Amino acid sequence: MKLLVANWKMNKSFNDGLRAIKSIKKKIKNDRKKKYIILPPLQSTLYIKKNLIKDDVIFGSQDCSQFKNGAYTGDISAEMIKKVGCKYTLIGHSERRIMYNENNKVLRNKIKRALEQKLKVIFCVGETLISYKQNKSSQFIIRQLINVFDKSDNFKNIILAYEPIWAIGTSVTPKMNEIDNIHHTIKKTMKKKFNILNIPVLYGGSVKPTNAAEIFSLKNVDGGLIGGASLIASEFCKIYDTL
Ligand code: PGA
Repeated sequence: MKLLVANWKMNKSFNDGLRAIKSIKKKIKNDRKKKYIILPPLQSTLYIKKNLIKDDVIFGSQDCSQFKNGAYTGDISAEMIKKVGCKYTLIGHSERRIMYNENNKVLRNKIKRALEQKLKVIFCVGETLISYKQNKSSQFIIRQLINVFDKSDNFKNIILAYEPIWAIGTSVTPKMNEIDNIHHTIKKTMKKKFNILNIPVLYGGSVKPTNAAEIFSLKNVDGGLIGGASLIASEFCKIYDTL
C-alpha cells in the first residue's frame, strides 16, 4: 500500500479547501494499492465534510493534544479529532518540534493519546542541516525513533515520515541514494528495537511533480508527505499519478 499525504498547514479558506477537494476527487481515486489523505486545518475539515455530497475522502489532523481533556486552552484532543471524522493524525512535524518546542516526552504523550483513540499516527523524523553535513543523519533519526516509541504500541497504526528539516519548503532534497539509505535505516531500527517488520516510511520535503517519480521508485519509500505542492490540486494529483 502506497500513501500520499497532503499537509496543507495553516492555509486555504473554507471555500478554497472545498474547491480543492472537489477537484482532487474528480482527478484521482483511492484503490487497494494507493490512497491519498488530506490534512486541512481541522475547522476546514468539518466544513468540507459537511459540504461534500459523497464524503469518501480520508482526512487527518496536523497535530493532536498531548492531553486527554481539560484546561488546555487552544488544544484539540485526539477524541475531538476522531469525532470530526479524521482517521489519521500527524505528530512530530519539525515545524511543531522547533516552533512549539515539542520534545520527545510531549511527542510520546501525543502518540499515546492518538493511539488510544485508534487514530493512525503519521510520525515525522528528520535531521537538521548541521547533522546532515556532519554525516550524522542516521544517528539523529535513530534517536528520534527510539525515544518516543514503546514495544507495547500498536504499530499497525503507525506510519513514519522522513522529512529532512533542510528539505522542507526549500526545493532541495537529499540525493536519491541518501533518501533510500535513511528509509532503510529507519526500517532496520524499527525491526531491531521494536521487532516491527517493514513499517511504512513516507518521504517528505520538496516533493514536486518533477521529482516524485524518481523518489517513489526507491525501494524503501512507501509514499510521500507533501506540503507546498499539495496546495495546488493539479500538482498534488500529478504527484499521486507517479505513485
Ligand atoms: P514541502 O513540505 O513539501 O513544502 O517541502 C513538506 C512538509 O512540511 O510536510
